[in-house]
Amino acid sequence: MASRAWVLPLLLLLTRPGATAAKELLKGISYGPAPLKKAGKLPNDDFMSTSAKAQWSTSGRGDLHIIKRLGANAVRLYGNDPREDHTPFLDEAVVQGLQVIPGMSDYPYTQMPKNCMTTDFNCYSQIKEQYKSMLQNGFAKDGAYHGALKTIIVINEPDLKIPGISKPTEFCRAIVSAIDGMIDAEKETDTKSNLINFTATFSFGQCTACKGSSKPALGQMMELRSAMEKPEDVGYEANNNLAEVYKTRFTNSFNTANPANDMKPLFLNDYEANFDSTPVFIGEYHSTHVSTKKDIHDVIEVAKNSDALVGVSFFEFQVRYDKGGTEMDFGMFGLGQISLAEMNFFGVEFPVWCLMKIQDAKDPGNTIADSLTVGFEGEGIPDDQLCVIDPKKVPLSEDGYQAILSTKSVNKMADFVRRVIWHMGGDVEDDKALVNFATKYAKQTLEVTVRRLSGLSFASMVDELGQHPSWVLWDAMAACVADRSADQDTVGEAIGWTCGNFHSFNCSDLPSFCSEDVWAHADYVFSLYFAVETDHSSPLEHCNFGGAAMFAPSKVYRSQDSACIVTKDPATTALSEEGYQMILQFHDTDKAAVFIQREVEDLKMKVANKSALTNFAMKPPAHFKDLKEQLPQVPWVCGGPSGRNCPFPVNPTDGGGGGWVVGLIICIVLLFAAILAALYVRRKRQMAARDREVDVDRSVQVELA
Ligand SMILES: *[C@@H]1O[C@H](CO)[C@@H](O)[C@H](O)[C@H]1NC(C)=O
Ligand SMILES: *[C@@H]1O[C@H](CO)[C@@H](O)[C@H](O)[C@H]1NC(C)=O
Ligand SMILES: *[C@@H]1O[C@H](CO)[C@@H](O)[C@H](O)[C@H]1NC(C)=O
Repeated sequence: MASRAWVLPLLLLLTRPGATAAKELLKGISYGPAPLKKAGKLPNDDFMSTSAKAQWSTSGRGDLHIIKRLGANAVRLYGNDPREDHTPFLDEAVVQGLQVIPGMSDYPYTQMPKNCMTTDFNCYSQIKEQYKSMLQNGFAKDGAYHGALKTIIVINEPDLKIPGISKPTEFCRAIVSAIDGMIDAEKETDTKSNLINFTATFSFGQCTACKGSSKPALGQMMELRSAMEKPEDVGYEANNNLAEVYKTRFTNSFNTANPANDMKPLFLNDYEANFDSTPVFIGEYHSTHVSTKKDIHDVIEVAKNSDALVGVSFFEFQVRYDKGGTEMDFGMFGLGQISLAEMNFFGVEFPVWCLMKIQDAKDPGNTIADSLTVGFEGEGIPDDQLCVIDPKKVPLSEDGYQAILSTKSVNKMADFVRRVIWHMGGDVEDDKALVNFATKYAKQTLEVTVRRLSGLSFASMVDELGQHPSWVLWDAMAACVADRSADQDTVGEAIGWTCGNFHSFNCSDLPSFCSEDVWAHADYVFSLYFAVETDHSSPLEHCNFGGAAMFAPSKVYRSQDSACIVTKDPATTALSEEGYQMILQFHDTDKAAVFIQREVEDLKMKVANKSALTNFAMKPPAHFKDLKEQLPQVPWVCGGPSGRNCPFPVNPTDGGGGGWVVGLIICIVLLFAAILAALYVRRKRQMAARDREVDVDRSVQVELA
């Protein structure tokens, strides 16, 4: 009771109008991590897609986790392909404690056929369609927006592109019509709760054609407010009450490369005087002409003391080598030398380079990331956690080999070699020999030219292993299977590729027992593809499927469920047409018999006469379907669909007699367990009784006190 009495005044104090101490600032990081180290083209720019998971997920480089560690509470994005499912990204953001501020791509505005430049800057139908798919692909579910979302950027820098800063009527028509379309998209998808705010992120350009003000960004915001209040003034007839939307669901935002000192005189003072109930945030913030440490501190102070400015999103996470020029000055992380993983980004393979902190050009000795961490009050990320070379993750390629080489660690090289061997269908038998081999490949830290003379490289390693040294057990039954350490989405994409490239198999004939699980599905198509569509000469290359597969020795794949792996081994190959054909090709009665016996058992029958089975296996049916039909009819099986009772024991060697022993063991174990349980219960009772005595003692003491 007493403790609650002082909470109430404290709450009143904190929520008193004008008190800003409790305000949670927006501390975002703008995120557009192109995986390119030089100018070039990307197949897509949707970095929140599952295709880019190897970058953002903790299972890959862990970008979202790093963003959180820097002290941010939000991530701002750009590209956004409405066809992509964004649920995994949004879910991970929630796990990391980050808000997501996505944007609509420029594509529907200025790039796609029939973009809204071609429809007189009326963007209603283009944006409605795009936004509807976004809502259906993760932004909303069961009528509510995803919890990671609070704000969506309707368009980035509309004043610079649609069509230009001298045409406020046109860019305002584009924005209001887009928002109108987005509201109708919400209605059509029945998205009603957890509603989020809209924003248009203006440039910090001065709009002299704007009526209200010529202060940068401010004039644009005033024009937009008028347009939302009266859309007909910019030549647009709205379906929805946009004035109401502005009042309840609109936030202003702008991008700037100016420093904190400029914010109040150039923008905020006038903003506060003109917009008393619309919050504003800075969608891109980073002046490269001042020290980041000081400037972030200063802008956070400005935000803390302002009722209007809710915070900033720092521009930007990664250096954009692909854009070049001064665009490269903003990134706080560069791409390092080590590839942490391979990423299949919309069909193109990219290495996921590790990150390295960029020095702040205006603050010698400090990196931009560390300075931002101070301003954002984050825990930070130590340098040695960024470019960690993990022999289990580096690609099995020259890049991966060079990365391991750079660690100068024989142990890491040995782990890498062991992994290469696994992917080639072998298993190390002699660890000493492995270490010798790894030492040779790890110890060449000489200059590049000398190294070239020595001829050691990833290619030479693979060549040497390809000659099957005796310290490795090479498994004749190795098979191409899904690599269980690969990303599930990578595996899914690889299945698609494989099915599209098969000549001898139609993936719609996949056995039904392999279709329930992506790994089983992948095992089937990879093992079959490798067996029938390649010449088997280079497992590392032909059993890779974008990092989704490995040519594993049976020891590795048998530890997982191997029912869907097509191999040459009649004792394990899949019980299917393709598995059957793999065995028939040997024209070997014993092998055929092993396979047929497995199928008999799979049909819940037993072989009653082994020599009759052998006779049958000499001339087996040509197709699995026929085999399956004939087996219940043959006279040498019993049980199940054959309709014949099995004589007991069927065959003393195949378990019928062993059943006695197993039964006896089970009885003994059960008896033993019962005795243990009885002892346990008794002891528990005794202890409980003792505890009660102690409790009684205590209550007596309390009463005395
Ligand atoms: C959404 O917009 C309204 C109206 O401007 C504002 O009061 C509210 O704080 C905004 N909410 C967020 C989460 O930005
Ligand atoms: C695969 O089988 C399905 C169904 O039997 C059929 O519709 C499809 O055309 C086949 N695909 C090819 C490439 O033959
Ligand atoms: C088992 O099959 C063989 C060959 O078909 C036959 O000769 C033999 O009599 C059978 N044995 C029994 C016990 O049925």
